[in-house]
Amino acid sequence: MRAVFAALALTATCLTVPAAPAAASDNGLSIRPAMGWSSWSFVRRWPDETKMKAQADALVSSGLADKGYVYVNLDDFYQKCDSNGFVVDNYGRWAVDSAKFPSGIKALADYVHAKGLKFGFYVTPGIAKNAVTANKPIEGTSYHAKDIADTSQTHKNYNCKNMYRLNYSHPGAQAFINSWADQMASWGVDYLKIDGVDASTVADVEAWDKALRQTGRPINFALSNNLPIAQATTWKRLANSWRTQGDVECYCGSGPNGSGYPLTDWSHVVSRFNSAASWQQYAGPGGWNDYDSLQIGNGDQVGLTADQRRSHMTHWAMAASPLLLGTDLTALTSVDLAMLKNDRLIAVNQDGVAAQRVVNSGVNQVWRKREANGDYVIALYNTGTSGNSTVSVTWAQAGFTGPAAVTNLWSGASEGTIASSYSATLRPGETRLIRARPAGAATRYEAENATISQGAAESNHSGFSGTGFVNADNVTGSYVEFTVNAAEAGSRTVTIRYANGTSVNRPMTVAVNGAAVQTRDFPGTGDWDTWADATLTVSLNAGANTVRLTGTTANGGPNVDYLDVS
Ligand code: GCU
Repeated sequence: MRAVFAALALTATCLTVPAAPAAASDNGLSIRPAMGWSSWSFVRRWPDETKMKAQADALVSSGLADKGYVYVNLDDFYQKCDSNGFVVDNYGRWAVDSAKFPSGIKALADYVHAKGLKFGFYVTPGIAKNAVTANKPIEGTSYHAKDIADTSQTHKNYNCKNMYRLNYSHPGAQAFINSWADQMASWGVDYLKIDGVDASTVADVEAWDKALRQTGRPINFALSNNLPIAQATTWKRLANSWRTQGDVECYCGSGPNGSGYPLTDWSHVVSRFNSAASWQQYAGPGGWNDYDSLQIGNGDQVGLTADQRRSHMTHWAMAASPLLLGTDLTALTSVDLAMLKNDRLIAVNQDGVAAQRVVNSGVNQVWRKREANGDYVIALYNTGTSGNSTVSVTWAQAGFTGPAAVTNLWSGASEGTIASSYSATLRPGETRLIRARPAGAATRYEAENATISQGAAESNHSGFSGTGFVNADNVTGSYVEFTVNAAEAGSRTVTIRYANGTSVNRPMTVAVNGAAVQTRDFPGTGDWDTWADATLTVSLNAGANTVRLTGTTANGGPNVDYLDVS
């Protein structure tokens, strides 16, 4: 007993209680930023089922779907207008233009699903004037359009316009939105973009959130566009992503209304850097800052040089923005396809951490983030349009000290161990993206990847690292067991990150390699979104070790986020 106990000497209990971040939507969706394609940038005002199917086919045949780009999102202009606005169906919802979609939206969604992809759709707030004029019935109720419309006010709409506001104090208004969401769910919609959202449409966003949830179908809920940051916590509570700015498109193409190539220009891309610096704090699992479509795929004709396109991709990855391609997937260039398929870039996007800007000086910018495993990812940019610039960062600015092993993430090349700072001379628009692993850094073991006995991995509270945490059952003996690898035998510092939203201590026994070595306290942390660290020293064998945390009371243990071993 003594010998075993000596192996685990409690060094310190440091209780860090960080400020609780704003809670994300608890609809359980988009734990990572969405990836796929949207019709707006390239197809623009002329979507139809042939074009949509061709883009879906290309998403698969190009190999992009295998990399995680799975959403096929139909944006605006699938509807039909008359001189009074949107043509509506029997229950007052927008009618689909059957000239563009002769087989209907369900058939298109079925086609997309049969390819292993997901289908996205589009709406804006309110009820169409034509629904009100004809006083259409609200499906499943005895109400009619005139009962629920406020005809004194209209909503923003970018297509047929003439959208009246809804009077949500009347129960028919929610019923109307529910019937619309039910129709979308029955068609197989997996993602809904609601456009025209602003500070005056919070009630509409709430109604759509409720409506999507009551369908029972998981539907990723995306808000657009140019959302006011003053309501950021509201958007985060209600939706899985929100556009932080106006469109990334330049509307400077040679086609009607500025459609066609170029799709964008550098000023529209680089303006997102300032936006990302302000919105960074709001991104996290379940809710993402959306910097708009990714204009990579068709070479220079999109309006960006290859260097600028790599910076575009780098910034969206660093910011953990949805990666929704705006380009023509039927005409992908090999250079761009390689950018989009770069696993290291995709991993930086899907780590679910939004980077912070640490250098913003003239044309030079440096962004950094710390990933769950303790690595730092650092992006250096020359945002200028002429002349090379030398961009530098110290490890202290990046958030750590001491030497680090550096990998160039665009090329994959190792750059060896670098002592304390990093510099790159970059062409105009060029980026350098590196991963720095500090020597002696802790290795993180996420609880959601560990062995769970009587409990489950969940993500319904905020502030966790990785994709979730473990909620052990409220029974004596429920546990989470980590497999911890040690290069050599010896003592290690172990940090257990946990949350206990009750005021009752949740003791757990810590066992190393099957030997119960200590039962320690895990007191309340204030709420389930507030995480604290419990630090102790353990002795590990060389090779694989087990570290098991077992609840000793009928309450089970606290929620466990991860184990850091250093
Ligand atoms: C709540 C909380 C869970 C927690 C549980 C508990 O249900 O949402 O995350 O694990 O309480 O008491 O253990």
